[in-house]
Amino acid sequence: MEDFKKCTDAAFCNRLLGARDEGYYIDPASVKVFGPAVNAKLLNKATGADFTLTLKAYKGFVRLLVDEDASRKRFEVPGVLMHDLESREGSWVMKAQTSESWQLRCGDAELQLRYSPLQIDISIKGQPVMSFNSRQMFNFEHKRQKQEGDPEGWWEETFKGHTDSKPRGPEGISFDLAFPGMQHVYGLPEHATTLSLKPTVDLADNITSEPYRLYNLDVFEYVADSPFGLYGSIPFLWAQKLGFTVGAFWLNAAEMFVDVGKTDAATFTNWVAESGILDLFLLLGPTPAKVSEQYAQITGTTALPQYFSLGYHQCRWNYRDEADVRQVDANFDKFDIPYDVIWLDIEHTDGKRYFTWDKNLFPDPVKLQEDVASHGRKVVTIIDPHIKRDPGYNIYQEAEQNHYFVRDKDGKDFDGWCWPGSSSYLDMLNPEVRSWWAQQFSLSKYKGSTPNLYVWNDMNEPSVFNGPEITMPKDNLHWGEVEHRNLHNLNGALFHQATAQGLVERGKAVFGSDGDRPFVLSRAFFAGTQRIGPIWTGDNSADWDHLRVSLPMIMSVGIAGLPFNGADVGGFFGNPDAELITRWNQVATFYPFFRGHAHLDTKRREPWLFGEDATRRIREAIRARYVLLPYIYTLFRHANTTGLPIMRPLWYEFPEVEATHGIDDEFLLGPALLVAPVLDAGAESRAVYLPGTGPWYSAKTGEVATPDSSGALSVPVTMDDVPSFLRGGHILPLRERARRSTAAAKHDPYTLLVALDSNGQAAGELYLDDGSSFAFQRGLYAHRLFTFKDGLLSSQELPGTPSRYSTDVAIERIVVVGLRQPASSFSVTEVGSVKVLQAGAGPVVLAEGVPESALVIRKPELPIAGDWSIRLAVTA
Ligand code: GLC
Repeated sequence: MEDFKKCTDAAFCNRLLGARDEGYYIDPASVKVFGPAVNAKLLNKATGADFTLTLKAYKGFVRLLVDEDASRKRFEVPGVLMHDLESREGSWVMKAQTSESWQLRCGDAELQLRYSPLQIDISIKGQPVMSFNSRQMFNFEHKRQKQEGDPEGWWEETFKGHTDSKPRGPEGISFDLAFPGMQHVYGLPEHATTLSLKPTVDLADNITSEPYRLYNLDVFEYVADSPFGLYGSIPFLWAQKLGFTVGAFWLNAAEMFVDVGKTDAATFTNWVAESGILDLFLLLGPTPAKVSEQYAQITGTTALPQYFSLGYHQCRWNYRDEADVRQVDANFDKFDIPYDVIWLDIEHTDGKRYFTWDKNLFPDPVKLQEDVASHGRKVVTIIDPHIKRDPGYNIYQEAEQNHYFVRDKDGKDFDGWCWPGSSSYLDMLNPEVRSWWAQQFSLSKYKGSTPNLYVWNDMNEPSVFNGPEITMPKDNLHWGEVEHRNLHNLNGALFHQATAQGLVERGKAVFGSDGDRPFVLSRAFFAGTQRIGPIWTGDNSADWDHLRVSLPMIMSVGIAGLPFNGADVGGFFGNPDAELITRWNQVATFYPFFRGHAHLDTKRREPWLFGEDATRRIREAIRARYVLLPYIYTLFRHANTTGLPIMRPLWYEFPEVEATHGIDDEFLLGPALLVAPVLDAGAESRAVYLPGTGPWYSAKTGEVATPDSSGALSVPVTMDDVPSFLRGGHILPLRERARRSTAAAKHDPYTLLVALDSNGQAAGELYLDDGSSFAFQRGLYAHRLFTFKDGLLSSQELPGTPSRYSTDVAIERIVVVGLRQPASSFSVTEVGSVKVLQAGAGPVVLAEGVPESALVIRKPELPIAGDWSIRLAVTA
């Protein structure tokens, strides 16, 4: 960890974190309201510096902008905000005005702007929820000339032998944001730590731990509990108390640190960034789902993934050669384990020149991909952002000639060390470079690729082995003479975006106007990455701590608007034993992105290498994933339309249950399935918390789970068990037939699993489309709504959907749990038809348990995408 800076090693953090300045005030005469915007002049008493302040009202959020005047153009992060943001504008209503403050209202929110010192207080329905600068920690380092005697660190600083020339001097920004009455804050990924962020300062502002750092870095063997910055950053924080959930998003891509402090009265946060502007969105909730929607209105929703990409992925650094790939592919069939994608890491290339193949190891990549595709599967290759400085390498040659590389502070193409040795780095801030890069993915340019090949972008923080903190010097120069420091945290997302664009263009060329959805996995990320594709949590380790921390990490990235993510299953470094790899797969059944991966130096660990019992259990875990795919895909459609997360903290669904607010070793997959996985070696039982009144049903047996009055339940476990529970009131669409891949299951019938609430009711949805193209964007999809009430189970199109997707796939099983009478006492008929359906007691999901009350309707042959109703009547 010595390679990486602490706050005290970074001059701006040292200067600004925890620093107070009461001298910032608003000039009362300057305050003006124009519809949604309050404009004012902000001044600093001591320095005389002035700034522009804008407070803009939107429906559900407020935007605070502070900048210097145009004479010092500061960097504004491009491409993250939604183009239609302005259509969400609200308008301020003046409530009261004095010589000291203004009181404004927008919707349910009331805002008080105090002039001196500057302070902004927000309340919702009379309840205070956020306070900006109540501790006078706002600071904005204004433009200045270099002078003799300026403090050290203003114009130059050195860390571990690397000197940052800082030609623009100090340009940091800091502020404090308090959340009255709130004890929990979450988010601000990416950190390997608890979901509810632990305090980093105590009441007296003494530092108790490092602040949370947001700086995209390639951290070798990261520890499982640390506030240090990892590969991606989303400066978006959540806060909550009973009845109120709110958020704060700072659109700024420079290095950032955030302190968290807690008192009985509030949680305080103190933010500092090295450069850029203050562009702060305060999200007013007041529910978790509302905060997600508001954030999605600002930065966008999750791209609808390829259906195949929700299946199981098999990766390793490296599958050695074509024979190895074929062998692994064949073994999945031999051991009857479904999978969808096999991955090729850096060793498949010719000397780490991306877009090339090692001709000895991969002499016929097209044939290889076609063979894999003939089993309904795909291949992913790695394409990293560092370009080998080899004049004989066409990518390097073209980029060099066109001046497409990031330059060092002296204006020469930056030369850094990465996998290929000496490398240059494409300047993705330049749109021309992005479109040139996108073209490289066409089938004619990327030799040896086929439409069944998708892409993995790694090392895009960027990782520079000989750079400061293993990344790029901050005084490197991008397009428009922008210093790297301003966009560091955005760098990876720009590269990810250009790659995805390449696959979009390839898809249109191959398949016509409906195209093919891109699939590109990235390691680095920023706000807005959700619109591009998934990420994973990088180089974790094969130990129980990393298994455990994967849950808060995935959830934290998920609530930060980027739900399509997962952790390397089994742990990247080290060798998991049979127990750990089994448990890890059992957890990963429910990861939004499910990929096994391992370091070059680890032992082989494909699912069949840990003995018969482990193979069987891993098979079951992966099959369980495939069973759940219709439900998971429907959750992704919701993420795509409204921004909701996939793997959800308990509090996300039960904000009104205070006991959930600190839990992060259990989660919900969507609204309907609660999972309390085994995270300890040798466990014989698992302590589970079941929120609310339920009822909750064991997902294995369908029996009602009965916790004690506090919601606690101890579940005995064997190596076969993954305690999981169906939430009463929900209907899950499933596919139970065991297949080798998602493609092989394409025409398989469905199961509906109906879990009744205490009123005997339930509802659920199923989203259907072709699973691969953009045709859904022109209405070629179905979105079914299933409801159960008064013994009547109905299927109809979700109101407002175009219903232009047809399929003749049917429902083969309907299972109802939670009926008050035994299954044998019901008869089932289709309404409007004379069809009497076969019904009786049966297993819930591929499982042995058959509770008396689980009613199983066999082969109802009802159309999955058609309207119908069936009636359950008690006959006995
Ligand atoms: C990085 C990635 C890892 C990959 C390796 C080689 O460490 O995080 O997933 O296998 O590089 O490409």
